[in-house]
Amino acid sequence: MRLLVTGAAGFIGSAYVRGLLARGGAGRGPAVSHVTVLDKLTYAGTLSNLETADPRLTFVHGDICDAELVDTLMKQAGQVVHFAAESHVDRSITGADAFVRTNVEGTHTLLEAALRHGVQRFVHVSTDEVYGSVETGTSPETAPLDPNSPYAASKAASDLIALSYHRTHGLDVRVTRCSNNYGPHQFPEKIIPLFITNLLDGEDLPLYGDGLHVRDWLHVEDHCHGVDLVRTKGRPGEIYNIGGGTALTNRELTGRLLEACGADWSRVRHVADRKGHDRRYAVRDDKAREELGYRPRHDFAAGLAETVAWYRDNRSWWEPLKRSALTGGAR
Ligand SMILES: NC(=O)c1ccc[n+]([C@@H]2O[C@H](COP(=O)([O-])OP(=O)(O)OC[C@H]3O[C@@H](n4cnc5c(N)ncnc54)[C@H](O)[C@@H]3O)[C@@H](O)[C@H]2O)c1
Repeated sequence: MRLLVTGAAGFIGSAYVRGLLARGGAGRGPAVSHVTVLDKLTYAGTLSNLETADPRLTFVHGDICDAELVDTLMKQAGQVVHFAAESHVDRSITGADAFVRTNVEGTHTLLEAALRHGVQRFVHVSTDEVYGSVETGTSPETAPLDPNSPYAASKAASDLIALSYHRTHGLDVRVTRCSNNYGPHQFPEKIIPLFITNLLDGEDLPLYGDGLHVRDWLHVEDHCHGVDLVRTKGRPGEIYNIGGGTALTNRELTGRLLEACGADWSRVRHVADRKGHDRRYAVRDDKAREELGYRPRHDFAAGLAETVAWYRDNRSWWEPLKRSALTGGAR
């Protein structure tokens, strides 16, 4: 079976493709014989994230909004896993055009072509941010969508369009909503890689507001495992939350990063809070656990230590990226 993966020159998509190829494409259902990656190589995508010499992988440099290109690729695809997106909240606050275009129009372009060519399965990768800020308790898949940032609103719109293609046309669409990912190969603009690389460079850490915003941390490999369980064992038309099980305030996270890098609080600079900053996200992922056997396998302390070590050992990966495009602040 040929799999089309969008956005796999980025952080999570590339981890998904690396993992799939390392396992030889095996899983429940038809084995993956070939992976085609479609990626526009925006500031967030880099070919150095992928083993492009692998004969089981074809890389196509292009835009998910390009209907003609998408049509050609979809003709050959058995299944689709859709990661491509504009993904940084701060950038959506300074300019939302690319978010609406890629996240909403791009997803629609993919769905139209998938329907036209009878693609077997379409996994749409979404986010817990669509539920908005949750002061207490956890969001199940049935919670109302209440997104606050332009990023989250564009993801909520694309989720609903994706689900409508199942409900209206019967296309086998499955939606995942995960919490904050961390791990190697993450563009150094989001809090963990930004803070690690700043510490490695002797720079300050810009901590938003009072630092008491709570995020649940999910290792990228656990997320990819969850996405593949949804692709291979999930049910059409269903939404699956994927959590990491480690909820921390940004202040607590900062303390752990300082400790891991042998630095102290004098390196932290409090900056004005992000506009509309969601206080807390918390997904309930019982459905993925009970139905698919999903469990996050990475211990957070060990995963964070490995991530710090990866950035320490791979300066040549992140230094040029960081130099090229930074907006300041962190997720
Ligand atoms: N990173 C997280 O913590 C997180 C959490 C929840 C959900 N998600 C979702 O997971 C998915 C992947 O996130 P990520 O962190 O890997 O993002 P990323 O920003 O690292 O990568 C996005 C990739 O999409 C590509 N892309 C962007 N616009 C495109 C277009 N128009 N056509 C083709 N390719 C395009 C980029 O070049 C890049 O390679 C996104 O849909 C995101 O909303 C991410």
